[in-house]
Amino acid sequence: MTDYALLAAQARALCEGCPSWVAALANASALVMESMDDVSWAGFYLVDESDSTRLLLGPFQGKVACVEIARGRGVCGTAWEQDATQLVPDVHAFPGHIACDSASRSEIVVPIHANGRVVAVLDLDSTSPARFDEADARGLEGLVASLEEVVAW
Ligand code: SME
Repeated sequence: MTDYALLAAQARALCEGCPSWVAALANASALVMESMDDVSWAGFYLVDESDSTRLLLGPFQGKVACVEIARGRGVCGTAWEQDATQLVPDVHAFPGHIACDSASRSEIVVPIHANGRVVAVLDLDSTSPARFDEADARGLEGLVASLEEVVAW
């Protein structure tokens, strides 16, 4: 079980005062991968500043991934559109799931806010079915709350 209070505190310490959001999110994705078991991909998709209908791939750890995700598409685009955490125990049962890694079985995506709107999402994948539960959702939302405060979105 992940110690989410520790993870959020570590992320805050790592990212606070960081002069670059790219550097901050690169370290945050590495921290998540180091801290959590059975996670195959962890990273960020950010709303494209020049085309607000799509997310673009941001800093991550894991296999190469799709670069663009349209608003409302896949798990990430749904989290953005609905402004709600998406807890997906079986990716094959999620309509429109975008399979970047065919070995992926479960996923969780948490929206990230700045200035009152969604600016990015945190995306985690696992090759195990139902890897993430409500405790992970609340814990990752806590991590995101820390990142919202200290990253220069
Ligand atoms: N599965 C995601 C796409 C991103 S990859 O998991 C890294 C989705 O359906 O939005």
